[in-house]
Amino acid sequence: MAQNGGTEDSFFDIKDSDLTGLKDKVIVMTGGSSGIGLAFVKLCVGQGAKIVVGDVNECPEKGDDVTFMKVDVTDWKQQLALFKKAIEVHQKIDHVFANAGIGPTDTFVKDELDSNGDLLPPNMRTMDIDLNGPIYTSKLGIHYLNKNPSGGSVVITASPSSFSPFVATDYGTAKHGCLGLMRNLNAHFVDTNIRVNCITPLWTASGLVPAEHMQQTLGIISQPPEAAARSAMLLMADENRRGQTMFSKRSMFKEVDSILMGAIHSAIAPGEGDMPTSKEQAQKYKDQMTT
Ligand SMILES: NC(=O)c1ccc[n+]([C@@H]2O[C@H](COP(=O)([O-])OP(=O)(O)OC[C@H]3O[C@@H](n4cnc5c(N)ncnc54)[C@H](O)[C@@H]3O)[C@@H](O)[C@H]2O)c1
Repeated sequence: MAQNGGTEDSFFDIKDSDLTGLKDKVIVMTGGSSGIGLAFVKLCVGQGAKIVVGDVNECPEKGDDVTFMKVDVTDWKQQLALFKKAIEVHQKIDHVFANAGIGPTDTFVKDELDSNGDLLPPNMRTMDIDLNGPIYTSKLGIHYLNKNPSGGSVVITASPSSFSPFVATDYGTAKHGCLGLMRNLNAHFVDTNIRVNCITPLWTASGLVPAEHMQQTLGIISQPPEAAARSAMLLMADENRRGQTMFSKRSMFKEVDSILMGAIHSAIAPGEGDMPTSKEQAQKYKDQMTT
């Protein structure tokens, strides 16, 4: 038995043949200069995709298929410029990867006082980068995917702390927000060619989570960043995947949102009239907007 009740064999592998749908696709992403994002850039270029990277740090991966722009994801105008650059270079956008992120900044429980002894506000840096950043990226992404007759997808990098408690309060709260963002955006696109998904990689070797440090201090064995990158690529390449949360650990993969939602639905037993389906909600929302 795997942790949390699943069986190890219900995890699956991602084969190279599952990712072939990314050839010639234009992917705009944030956080492509290190860790999971950099692995994603390299693997996507290997699949023949064109990548437009926004990051505060220079992207080490160079070449005709990689366009880099210095972007701070907390700045709307800088993100807008990234998407405009992608259109200028490639005339279309097929997929979007909202991946940039930092670690925790504030637990929201420790008192810090000003010179009058008044409580200072919390530091919102992690919330700004890890939640507001993906909101900006997703909004821009959907705007441009709506202009693409083939549609496309947005993948947001959430985390297992999106659905479990974590002492890193601001990080866990931002990542819960990323899962909520995916679920609530996706509800608008039922029966369309636009899809929104997220990845929730467990410990993954990166700038944020150095592998040696994790092993030496916590005894945790991280998966390589390529594993998390492949989960994002699968969500883009497989047009049947929408509203999914792709968990990965030790390079094994499992879709978990159906499990999470299945558990809550059976616990609260929604009946007729309790909760409209996403499709009904989307239709009502459209009706309201047009009347
Ligand atoms: N490594 C893990 O175990 C793990 C697990 C779950 C989720 N994540 C998430 O994966 C994503 C990628 O992180 P990583 O682990 O590869 O770490 P990383 O530090 O190696 O990469 C993060 C990238 O984001 C960029 N970045 C940071 N702040 C930015 C900003 N304001 N604007 C633009 N770019 C910015 C960094 O320059 C870097 O290139 C993050 O959202 C992180 O929260 C990581």
